[in-house]
Amino acid sequence: MRAPGGSQALMPQRFMRRGTPVSGSADAFAATGRFVTFEGIDGAGKSSHLQALAAWLRARGHEVVVTREPGGTPLAERLRELVLTQPMEPLTELLLVFAARRDHLVGQIVPALMRGATVLCDRFTDASFAYQGGGRGLDGECIAVLERWVQAGRQPDLTLWFDLPAEVAAARRSAARVPDRFEQQDAAFFARVRDGYAQRAVAHAARFERIDATGAQPEVWQRVLAAVEGRGWW
Ligand code: TYD
Repeated sequence: MRAPGGSQALMPQRFMRRGTPVSGSADAFAATGRFVTFEGIDGAGKSSHLQALAAWLRARGHEVVVTREPGGTPLAERLRELVLTQPMEPLTELLLVFAARRDHLVGQIVPALMRGATVLCDRFTDASFAYQGGGRGLDGECIAVLERWVQAGRQPDLTLWFDLPAEVAAARRSAARVPDRFEQQDAAFFARVRDGYAQRAVAHAARFERIDATGAQPEVWQRVLAAVEGRGWW
């Protein structure tokens, strides 16, 4: 039996009213769609591969929802704007990112997974561990608590981690765009973010695929395809 919407499906058990029929997290896990996240330091090139994978999946007849974090719903996009532009201390930043995530999960991701769509999401909670944990130095246990509350046990099915040295990513970024609050950070910050991703990849080895993001785009795309086809899901 399925809960009607994303909110009930993600309600941590202890917040459910007595007699509510379905445990939230069990139901979120019962969703049939695949949840794929794209991660990496700014300048790793993940976003163009996300679009390419969406096209590849659609050509095979799959329903694909392309989304991003922070963002993905009207409220979460407003929170994104604040997080990317307003000065704030790290814990406030973390809380806003998770507030955006909750709205996004409830309003967009879980309903899409429940109807069987593949969701491709540009960043998710691994970015909170990497940026707010590694980059800003917040306690990982605090982030893990928010992860449990907000996601009720739901993790991505597959995480494509685009990995490359911080200096290579910095050179790509400087050619590309006006930097936001994160992109203005120094090389040491991005080295810590990269390390944060590396730790998550070890702790969540089954769902993580490390993609070597150095080299030309077509080469990297071949690595993405190999990782995706290796799962045998589509
Ligand atoms: P990004 O995904 O790189 O988008 P764009 O390509 O449009 O710049 O930007 C989002 C930024 O938000 C990125 O620098 C990392 C940051 N971020 C966090 O710090 N924590 C999070 O949990 C998430 C999802 C993103």
